[in-house]
Amino acid sequence: MRSLVSKRESYNFPIKGSDSIGVLKLVANPVDINQAEARLVLVESFICEYEKYLAPSEIDDSLTSWRDGDRSVRKYYEDYFETELRDFTRGEFQYWVQATIDEKLVGWATFQREKLDQNAVYMNLLVVHPEYQGKGVGGQLVKSLDNLHEIPELSAIHLLLRRKNQGGRIFYSKLGFTSDPGYSRDDNFVNLDLLEGFTWRNPSLQNRVVISPCIDRPAFFRRTDQKDERNDTYCGFKPGFLLGERF
Ligand SMILES: CC(C)(COP(=O)(O)OP(=O)(O)OC[C@H]1O[C@@H](n2cnc3c(N)ncnc32)[C@H](O)[C@@H]1OP(=O)(O)O)[C@@H](O)C(=O)NCCC(=O)NCCS
Repeated sequence: MRSLVSKRESYNFPIKGSDSIGVLKLVANPVDINQAEARLVLVESFICEYEKYLAPSEIDDSLTSWRDGDRSVRKYYEDYFETELRDFTRGEFQYWVQATIDEKLVGWATFQREKLDQNAVYMNLLVVHPEYQGKGVGGQLVKSLDNLHEIPELSAIHLLLRRKNQGGRIFYSKLGFTSDPGYSRDDNFVNLDLLEGFTWRNPSLQNRVVISPCIDRPAFFRRTDQKDERNDTYCGFKPGFLLGERF
């Protein structure tokens, strides 16, 4: 079964506590990214979060200040931005989505499809400018690929969060992410030892289960509580389509 809902490049969403309208858009071409604004959103969002409870050296051993000089947190996140932009330009990940309010960039996120599971994504990065946090922009960015109908059967979103990121932990748990210590990757700008895996699984697909009958290839079935009129039910399960979901 394939979804009949067609993909869309953008959609509008309400901004909490305001009459403004946010616009969520998929960036089709790296040259369309406003680099100065995107860099600023990345740098300011992380500094705003970590300045509250960390020292620069807890972000990276080499860092000695928040904003001044080459060993600052600002420079570290500017380098992070350049790495992310370079990887997107090279096609190393597929999705860059951005949120604007009155045409001003207020947040953005990047995603890539998991190699072993095309219905699952890894979210590389998510940032919302401090002035626009708490208005629902971050939540919209997390859900953006689903809302843009980019992945009709989105099964899971994985991410790696810095263990010391207190705000991120609260934010993701509110969105239904749970700790996933088994999740890891071999590539990341941030040292992997500092990161913890989190995963969101699509609740609307949770009733789907995999059964491996006594044959040498696994079969994929969907649980059904209804009697199938064509009488093709099988031990309470109906043959479904390949989800690619790992259980
Ligand atoms: C994490 C982040 C993206 C959230 O963006 P946002 O636009 O503020 O998120 P939302 O407004 O959609 O918040 C959704 C919920 O999470 C809560 N939340 C978001 N950030 C929070 C924080 N730092 N501390 C506590 N709660 C937070 C909101 O209060 C809201 O709760 P509610 O639904 O009960 O009102 C943003 O704070 C940010 O850019 N942080 C710095 C960068 C970062 O840590 N990114 C994540 C790791 S890559």
